[in-house]
Amino acid sequence: MGMPVTPVPYDFIGDVLITPEQIEARVQELGEQITREYQNSDRLLLLGLLRGSVMFMTDLMRHVKRPMTMDFMSVASYSGTESTGFVRIEADHKTSIAGWDVILVDDIVDTGYTLSFVRKLLLDRNPRSLKICALLDKVDRRKVDLPIAYCGFRIPDYFVMGYGLDIDENGRNLPYICSVDLEKYGQRKKR
Ligand code: IMP
Ligand code: MG
Repeated sequence: MGMPVTPVPYDFIGDVLITPEQIEARVQELGEQITREYQNSDRLLLLGLLRGSVMFMTDLMRHVKRPMTMDFMSVASYSGTESTGFVRIEADHKTSIAGWDVILVDDIVDTGYTLSFVRKLLLDRNPRSLKICALLDKVDRRKVDLPIAYCGFRIPDYFVMGYGLDIDENGRNLPYICSVDLEKYGQRKKR
């Protein structure tokens, strides 16, 4: 029997696009795939980008049945809403990645500029291997070529929040992924 769900009172929730059950099932599949594909690795590092990847990361790692470590880094795009490719490192990862099999984990790939920048930066640090794992992929918005080894869901070009993803830091705690009602969100900002 499911627990009754208390709705979180954000007044700009659009449509629920991906339910908690769908997320859970897909994250489990990704974890199992990673477990299989890193069967011969004894130096597996999941490296998450703060803060959007946190919920995804902690769920994903529960399904990785291999010895592994976890680290995070925090990066910020310079411009406003649209990322530009000019990325600033706010906090770097703590452990050395040289010789490690690194999986770079993020919440969503939009233009691809952010992950493309971080990927090149990390490759210069000589990991044994580097792959990208993203929960969501807005394929139609891609501006640069980016190899995504593990992708949770492809979604259309909506602005989404929930399950770690935010709009101006709101909505990260929602257990599902939903579109943001931008009209309602705009009215709220004016108040
Ligand atoms: P990119 O550099 O354009 O690929 O932007 C990626 C980053 O933009 C992600 O890590 C997110 O932080 C943010 N982002 C892009 N689209 C969304 C969205 O729909 N909801 C929340 N954050 C988003
Ligand atoms: Mg992000």
